[in-house]
Amino acid sequence: MFQIKPIHQKIFKNARPYLRTRKNLIHTRIALRYAFKLLESEQGDEDIVIPAILLHDVGWNTIPEKLQLTAFGPNLSNLRLTKAHESEGARIAETILTQQGYSSEKIKKIRQIIRGHDTRKKAISGDDRIVKDADKLWRYSRKGVAIDLERFNMQPSSYLDYLEKVIAQWFLTKTAREIAQKEIKKRKTEYRISSICQ
Ligand SMILES: [Fe+2]
Ligand SMILES: [Fe+2]
Repeated sequence: MFQIKPIHQKIFKNARPYLRTRKNLIHTRIALRYAFKLLESEQGDEDIVIPAILLHDVGWNTIPEKLQLTAFGPNLSNLRLTKAHESEGARIAETILTQQGYSSEKIKKIRQIIRGHDTRKKAISGDDRIVKDADKLWRYSRKGVAIDLERFNMQPSSYLDYLEKVIAQWFLTKTAREIAQKEIKKRKTEYRISSICQ
């Protein structure tokens, strides 16, 4: 089990009202778990990575719910909104971090990570690499697969094959690639068993 610092707990508490959309509370909790896991073997600063993962999606709160599905996933058609959730998120994150007395140097680094967490494919730092990977690992978690299958209206077998295929291309750290491989094996077994039992 990981230990979250009291200051990061306070940040999460302040972020929570912004995360009550797009299933972002559960998404953030699961991504947080992966971030701690990655920090065990990848080089990164917990004081940057953890607030960045807790706050990375707060900007979705400013995007109307009926438009959110046009700004992520396989039916992405509105990149302007994808970018808006990043820039609005960076702005909200700055306010929350300033309220908690975070240093301006750290706030700047966290803002930069949030500003391009989905649209910037290359990482700007080791911390950014961990945040990007923890964010994507959620899609391989049991809950993440169940939620995405429903919202993208996809068949488990083809969706899981797709997730397996993109591992090498999506993940930036060796540890995340290994975790994704393990998770996809588990998901394939679970969905095979549930299709037999139906
Ligand atoms: Fe995002
Ligand atoms: Fe995310």
